[in-house]
Amino acid sequence: VTLVDETIGAQLILSYTIYNERPVITRNARLVNTSNQELRIEKIASMQLDLTKHDYDVISVPGQYALERQPERQELRRGITEFSSRRNSSSHHMNPFVALVDKNTDEFQGNALGVLLVYSGNHQFTLEKDQIDQIRLITGINDYNFEWVLEPGKDFQTPEAIMGFSQCGLNGMSQVFHKLLRDRVARGKYQYADRPIVINNWEATFFDFDDKKLDQIIDEAKPLGIEMFVLDDGWFGHRNDDNSSLGDWFVNQDKLTGGLKRVADRTHEHCMKFGLWFEPEMISVDSKLYKEHPDYALHEPNRGMTLSRNQLVLDFSRKEVVDNIYNQMCLILDKVPLDYIKWDFNRNLTEVFSSAADAEHQGEVSHRYVLGLYDLMERLVTRYPNILFEGCSGGGGRFDAGILYYMPQSWPSDDTDAVERLKIQYGTSLTYPISSMTAHVSVSPNQQTGRSTSFKMRGDVAMSGVFGYELDLADLTEEDRQMVKEQIKFYKAHRHLIQYGDFIRLESPFDSNTVAWEFVSPDKSEALLFMFKQLHTNRFEINNTKMAGLDPTIDYHDEMTDKTYGGDELMNVGLFRDPTHTGDFTSEVHYFKGK
Ligand code: GLA
Repeated sequence: VTLVDETIGAQLILSYTIYNERPVITRNARLVNTSNQELRIEKIASMQLDLTKHDYDVISVPGQYALERQPERQELRRGITEFSSRRNSSSHHMNPFVALVDKNTDEFQGNALGVLLVYSGNHQFTLEKDQIDQIRLITGINDYNFEWVLEPGKDFQTPEAIMGFSQCGLNGMSQVFHKLLRDRVARGKYQYADRPIVINNWEATFFDFDDKKLDQIIDEAKPLGIEMFVLDDGWFGHRNDDNSSLGDWFVNQDKLTGGLKRVADRTHEHCMKFGLWFEPEMISVDSKLYKEHPDYALHEPNRGMTLSRNQLVLDFSRKEVVDNIYNQMCLILDKVPLDYIKWDFNRNLTEVFSSAADAEHQGEVSHRYVLGLYDLMERLVTRYPNILFEGCSGGGGRFDAGILYYMPQSWPSDDTDAVERLKIQYGTSLTYPISSMTAHVSVSPNQQTGRSTSFKMRGDVAMSGVFGYELDLADLTEEDRQMVKEQIKFYKAHRHLIQYGDFIRLESPFDSNTVAWEFVSPDKSEALLFMFKQLHTNRFEINNTKMAGLDPTIDYHDEMTDKTYGGDELMNVGLFRDPTHTGDFTSEVHYFKGK
């Protein structure tokens, strides 16, 4: 749809993609300056949706560091309601997604219309209910600090917004988004590939490692069945804590005397893949890069700079800055055989001011930063198509569809506590597919919460995503070591079902002490049921979990208990939890094969 403004000389091109076989419409807008004068864009949305009088609830997805994506539901009342981020990232505190739902909509029934913005920067969702109860939803780049100068003949492209609809409640809506994001947003070699089981050294060593320590982890990992070793933060520059070296992407010779290639080769000799951590968008004041190019950091002239995690952000609105990091990364990637990169982004942007732009163009810097980021990602995924990229941002601070386009998986949260993860993974699944969500078993008591949970519970929660371990394998007891082997064997047998099957939420950790979810193969011939209990209580609790999405006309054999149930029975009566499971934080997993 092309709209023409003859007065100022502009065209607004509204593009719609209407899918034949999906309840999805995507939209974006492009503004073209057809005049012979500069135009200044102060606000430009990706889409506007007007709905007639109706009572809706709105679901948003706020969160915080180490507690990301905790959905909230509220009645949409008269006036303007806004959900947004002004942190120059999609952010921990508000994911770029909302859903409008009927009053009676729950996980299984009722209308649910989700809107997701495919963007990793400042976003804005504005909902207005007017005097006659009509509703208008507008979403796009946040107008905060935004101003774009559009020269004659030039155009401005807004990010895409995805609308997904279901009459079968929130689970129905989530499945629409899961499939669309998997099929049409994620891409590359790993789009549908089974993702490797990882051991990451971060929570085991933090910055304190050397060749010997890494070799120990690699040697321990192989016999357990782990498939990839990831070397996290601290391998570059002279980085021994978080005060230095970001921007200096060359090996830390003091720690890795044999260089990175030696670690990669050793990992490969053990028939495991090798991965490496980068934080490409950042710069430490104590770095070679800062000494050479202090203007590369975003900052306002003649004013102080705000450090966060002791670091500053590079000005990715400038091509030469992006080029510098690209060239440094290529030097490593051309030499070291890497299979995976964890791409971190550990602070938000402040002082969003570019030394290279004049006063008139400072309002463009925040969006140009995101375009610079996408440019770097595009160049790297194109040049290194065999590398699996994983996004990360102080945990899950940039878990969005823009990143998913380049990186088929992301780290949802630094909080690896199994109980808190129930909520984080549940909330993340409202929009994002399981194949995009990584989850690791870490030590107990948990380092973020101090809570103790069993190895089994930690494994069952982490196995509900793209699985891995993040602990010191050398510290495992013999019993835990056995458990790791079993968990890995189980995960390998079922990972395709978990990563690419239909995910169904059954009992919510936000509403109930018992939590359950399920993975069903598209042909309904197999299903995996995960049941968790948070606190134990002697009060009588509903003890049967009703499954969903099965074939009611066939029988399912529970391979764990060797019992057989009708599909209709599992869905209408449900499976009773093991009453002998006393104690807090317990879990049960059942694998059903249809016959
Ligand atoms: C962030 C990530 C962690 C780890 C550290 C390293 O906090 O979320 O997983 O990589 O950075 O500094």
